[in-house]
Amino acid sequence: MATKKTGGLAGVTAGATHICTVGKEGAGLTYRGYDIYDLADNASFEEAAFLLLHGHLPTQSELDDYIAKLKSNRGLPDALKNVLEMIPADAPPMDVLRTGVSFLGNIEPEGDFSNQQNVADRLLAIFPSMLMYWHRYHTDGVKIDTETDDDSVAGHFLHLLHDEAPRELHRKSLDTTLILYAEHEFNASTFAARVITGTLSDMHSAVTGAIGALRGPLHGGANEAAMALISKFDSAEAATAGVQQMLANKDLIMGFGHRVYTTSDPRNVVNKRMSKMLADDVGNRILYPVSEAVETVMWDEKKLFANADFFAASVYHFMGIPTYLFTPIFVCSRITGWAAHIMEQRADNKLIRPAADYIGPSLQEWIPIDNR
Ligand code: COA
Repeated sequence: MATKKTGGLAGVTAGATHICTVGKEGAGLTYRGYDIYDLADNASFEEAAFLLLHGHLPTQSELDDYIAKLKSNRGLPDALKNVLEMIPADAPPMDVLRTGVSFLGNIEPEGDFSNQQNVADRLLAIFPSMLMYWHRYHTDGVKIDTETDDDSVAGHFLHLLHDEAPRELHRKSLDTTLILYAEHEFNASTFAARVITGTLSDMHSAVTGAIGALRGPLHGGANEAAMALISKFDSAEAATAGVQQMLANKDLIMGFGHRVYTTSDPRNVVNKRMSKMLADDVGNRILYPVSEAVETVMWDEKKLFANADFFAASVYHFMGIPTYLFTPIFVCSRITGWAAHIMEQRADNKLIRPAADYIGPSLQEWIPIDNR
């Protein structure tokens, strides 16, 4: 029988990576050796994406070329637009992206792997277009042009969502969350992508599987669940009492806890700061104190800390993003980490096929069907 220690592969090292450290003593969260706080304070998401995908920080001219390349890859093929129009208006948007990338694999197949950097960049550039085309078609009845002049993925996303260029405060805040969400070592969706890649399958298949894994509330879906939680309370006092009751009922509090971090999630500091700034900006006096109250109860009662998803929820809410688009934003960012891992897996591939302890019945005698 699987031991407590190996349940869910907790504590098991399942491979080696050059891309990221998570919770390593003295290193915290790093991308290619760069501290997440340096990246959040100084980099753009495109710089972080280049770093993850190419292994080094871009020079100014490399960054300019990269931004231009991403901008030129935002267009949607007509066949994909038709598919997006056919997906129901009430479909979960994660399913839209899952279907979208899978369909793209049919009309823009990867072929051999010599083009993998371009496929990664195409997916990074096209996800916001795909999501927003479907969203605006079904909510506003318009077929939007997904090719905007915005240089950044964050600006492009918000421009398509709100039909106008975003305020810099919003663009920058979204950009920072994209950096924070970009990569996280062998998390469930990335590991799923590596397992699929290990069979020598194509990038679209690996990313389709990764989206399926990220969709669940124990992983990426937690940011939407966190929003649902904090929206229930109209004061810090109500949040404290409500969460205490939920804990007494043994409910999971979404946006708390982590498989690898034990005392804090370094991304939370940055998201919390942005949440406060955006709450002040919109003059919302409820959600931030409610969030802080939940954080205090969780630490006092369970020694559980907010993970990256908890304050990301209010950050997105304050910039007018509908809750059901929160987890798809994670996809628009994490595609960089997934693609980096897919390429790393391919560079030194070994089929991923672990063993299981058998805990079923002992060898049985065959029973003819009339005797059962
Ligand atoms: N709310 C309430 N209790 C929680 C909790 C949460 N968010 N996270 C963990 N716990 C409790 C568990 O119930 C368990 O208690 P027990 O020992 O009495 O059974 C204990 O803490 C250990 O949790 P466990 O589920 O075994 O840890 P894990 O490593 O398997 O799970 C998560 C990690 C992230 C899946 C888990 O913390 C969780 O479900 N969090 C909520 C979802 C979330 O925010 N996901 C995004 C992750 S970035």
